[in-house]
Amino acid sequence: MTVVLSTITIGDGPDVGTLAARRLRDGGLVAFPTETVYGLGADAINAKAIARLYAAKGRPAFNPLIAHLCNLEAARQIADFNAQALRLAEVFWPGPLTLVLPRAAGCPVADLATAGLDTIAVRVPAHPIARKILRAFGGPVVAPSANLSGHVSPTTAAHVQNDLGGRIDLIIDGGAVEVGVESTIVGCFDVPTLLRPGGVPRGEIERVLARPLLRPPDDVDSDPKQPLAPGMLASHYAPRTKIRLNAGTVEAGEALLAFGAEAIPGIDAASGVMNLSVRGDLNEAAANLFGYLRVLDASGARAIAVMPVPHHGLGEAINDRLGRAAVP
Ligand code: TXA
Ligand code: MG
Repeated sequence: MTVVLSTITIGDGPDVGTLAARRLRDGGLVAFPTETVYGLGADAINAKAIARLYAAKGRPAFNPLIAHLCNLEAARQIADFNAQALRLAEVFWPGPLTLVLPRAAGCPVADLATAGLDTIAVRVPAHPIARKILRAFGGPVVAPSANLSGHVSPTTAAHVQNDLGGRIDLIIDGGAVEVGVESTIVGCFDVPTLLRPGGVPRGEIERVLARPLLRPPDDVDSDPKQPLAPGMLASHYAPRTKIRLNAGTVEAGEALLAFGAEAIPGIDAASGVMNLSVRGDLNEAAANLFGYLRVLDASGARAIAVMPVPHHGLGEAINDRLGRAAVP
């Protein structure tokens, strides 16, 4: 199959949705912005398109995809919502929250997209371009982050182009994303479970549910009989350069990923410095995280030293991604 890449730069114009929906209907792979990161969309019902999607990303087929929908009503066609799930959807959708639920009877999503599980991950994104595409397409669209598997997630169309250019059919450029880390994933099981910290801070979800979320240890994921969050592999979101966490100094040949206004010893000799947020704002830091990792990764530094980032609010998601980026 010949793959034609057309990168187009358009705003939230009237025919973005129609254009993307047409490509999706033809089995095409379309990258588009969501509020969290850029996604690589395919028709969730078209197994052939999904096979191409896994191949384009180099993604292992045991790692299931999130189905994106235009609203709660559409999500209820493919997943069974319990009371807690309904409450979360009402409060946080559209927005950066993904719910893992039992597949509804007659759910038409291809088994390949859900890796054969009897659960399905569903999300209603908030980005106006994503919403336009989902409305025009009318059905579920699976969309993993639009990066090569294991690499840093894309927060601009240029990142998508760098990773997947030539492998996909269309990139919709909607500028830099707002949130910068992927959606929070909650498993709506008997005990609601935080499968991936992300764009909605854990505390906000716990307040709505009026109970703490269970957080399974990472090694649960490697148990094939218990694939709670099969994609949460230890090494992920990884730049090619070695990452050194909780740095209090900068060593020779290192670049620095800084946080806050404090200057640490060795900073003047750093081979490059990017500051996630000088004023210590975790939302700003999340929005900058993946782009700055890409910049420092390309700087030729021996390693990237990362200053400590507080763990509250979006800090939990930031530290989760940094921890995975640091695993070789
Ligand atoms: O913000 C986001 O969620 C972005 C944008 C594009 O929407 N998408 C995204 O997709 O991060 P991806 O494929 O990079 O991550 C999806 C995660 C994976 O860790 C996968 O294992 C998990 O969701 N997942 C999908 N279906 C699941 C299921 N049925 N049970 C448990 N985990 C599931
Ligand atoms: Mg991803």
